[in-house]
Amino acid sequence: MRSFKMIVVLIAFSSVSLFAQSAEELFNEKCVICHTAVKPTAEARSSFIAPPVMGVMFHVKEAFGGDKQKVIAFIKDYVLEPSEKKAKCLPKSIKRFGLMPSQKGNVTEEELEKIAEYMYENFPQRGFEPKQQRY
Ligand code: HEC
Repeated sequence: MRSFKMIVVLIAFSSVSLFAQSAEELFNEKCVICHTAVKPTAEARSSFIAPPVMGVMFHVKEAFGGDKQKVIAFIKDYVLEPSEKKAKCLPKSIKRFGLMPSQKGNVTEEELEKIAEYMYENFPQRGFEPKQQRY
């Protein structure tokens, strides 16, 4: 009986580590479906359903003067409670794509913390030129 319990505990622990996803994996799984993370070709742009993540992060960082804590807090809030009033991206973004659907139920606050930090650290990529961003 004791060894059975041990096995149960071991399985529980190993599955936690097996299923704990990295920030990048979480971001790819939960956000990239809509927000492309690679520099888009002109052709790809026409089929977008959301602005690419580098454009999003350029505008959000600009709005908060690059303040990491504020940017992360904004992302965490916006993803669960999006609104036109809060949006920092260009108004044409909402006009074209509509408001982002709340991701409540699709992502936890804990996951969002990791994702937001990952986005802050990785986007926009070096060499990104916002003026070329015509989506
Ligand atoms: C179903 C598609 C979809 C998914 C999934 C999605 N988004 Fe969005 N997102 C949008 C659209 C559309 C917009 C542009 C309209 C807007 O700003 O609300 C947007 C805009 C944003 C913005 C910019 C808001 C602003 O200031 O204007 C952020 C930040 C953002 N998304 C983060 C995320 C993160 C993080 C995830 C993953 C957890 C995610 N999104 C998943 C569709 C999506």
